[in-house]
Amino acid sequence: MEHASLRTEVEKILEAHEYRASALIAIMQDVQALYNYLPAKALEQIAKGLKISIAKAYSVATFYENFSLLPKGKNIIRICDGTACHVRKSIPILEAIRGDLGLSGKKQTTDDLMFTVETVSCLGACGLSPVITINDVVYPSMTPEKALALLAELKKEGVTNA
Ligand code: FES
Repeated sequence: MEHASLRTEVEKILEAHEYRASALIAIMQDVQALYNYLPAKALEQIAKGLKISIAKAYSVATFYENFSLLPKGKNIIRICDGTACHVRKSIPILEAIRGDLGLSGKKQTTDDLMFTVETVSCLGACGLSPVITINDVVYPSMTPEKALALLAELKKEGVTNA
């Protein structure tokens, strides 16, 4: 991402919120919606624009789970590991997906920024467990095999779109 265009985009978002410090969270949400994460440069610019300290901007960004300070992949896969899904074997699904993409608990995003794999505590669809979401679409009654088949399709689409 070029810094110049990031600067312009963040400035537009700050302007839209009239540089109100009370809109800090909404501004961060808008920036994250645009980039899929909160780039450090953007946080610095937000802090400056709202006349708050960088430390304050970081503390808000790290407090809310939904904000990410690291780049995320184009495709976001979430594996539910809430109680219902865990009991119905969500971990083998997680392991299969991570294994296929070379990811782990510490490394959640592929180097080509195509995939991010995360766990969540409950997606609110326990009756359909085990559940995963891919780009916010819910896939019920998953197995490692079904999940890998979905992943293979996504990879193919990535190649077609490239
Ligand atoms: S525990 Fe997975 S959807 Fe509720």
